[in-house]
Amino acid sequence: MKVPNHVAIILDGNGRWAKAKGMPRSYGHKKGCENLETICDDMKELGIKYLTVYAFSTENWKRSKEEVGYLMTLFRGYLKKCIKISERNRMRVRIIGDKTGFDRDIQESIQRLEEFSKDFDELHFQIALNYGSRDEIRRGVQKIAQKVQAGELLPEDISESTIGDFLDTQGIPDPDFLIRTSGEQRLSNFLLWQLAYTEFYFTEVAWPDFHRKELVKAIEKYNERDRRYGGVKEEGACS
Ligand code: IPE
Ligand code: IPE
Ligand code: MG
Repeated sequence: MKVPNHVAIILDGNGRWAKAKGMPRSYGHKKGCENLETICDDMKELGIKYLTVYAFSTENWKRSKEEVGYLMTLFRGYLKKCIKISERNRMRVRIIGDKTGFDRDIQESIQRLEEFSKDFDELHFQIALNYGSRDEIRRGVQKIAQKVQAGELLPEDISESTIGDFLDTQGIPDPDFLIRTSGEQRLSNFLLWQLAYTEFYFTEVAWPDFHRKELVKAIEKYNERDRRYGGVKEEGACS
């Protein structure tokens, strides 16, 4: 089985999953967070090199104070645990999104984790936190404009790769495969630039139930896809 180089996941459905069990939404988030620990091990074992997950969007601040507070508590715990997970998987961890939106202690945990794992390269794990693709593009455009204003960049020299260099995903290859759990078929402001040629996969399975078996099933579907990038696939020419 050929595995995608980069898998991106919109991990959705924690709340509905918990509700279906007669439990509060927070229980779904707790179980979803636990699943984030094991999925990294599975990705590593399957030979996937890049994994990006959408864990908290710029729009998710609109949720109740109680839910946001609980998610912050989970992130606090997870960022600390992730040091061990990164070590055992020799996994580099990076946070994409606007980190300045978080409390100071969370920002410090992020910095510690990124610094600790910066030389690992067997798996590259990106966690999107306070991430919104439009906000990421806005921040990137702002930096490009500052360079132009300072006379360090000519407008005519702005290429697609210049734009890529000013996004949070700088240096990370575009995802080959996007999975969204729990039935919704939308991007919800995730990686709008980077998903230009990505294959999409939607499953009814909620994130807390999305384990290795479901991941393998998704990758099998990926193997059936005929990727073209706008060209014509000649018999035997493409891998
Ligand atoms: C995904 O699950 C986790 C976050 C967005 C933080 P949801 O919380 O969106 O769960 P549903 O979609 O309401 O079921
Ligand atoms: C997208 O899920 C964001 C994350 C998974 C972090 P949402 O549940 O917030 O998205 P919508 O509101 O259904 O579009
Ligand atoms: Mg949701």
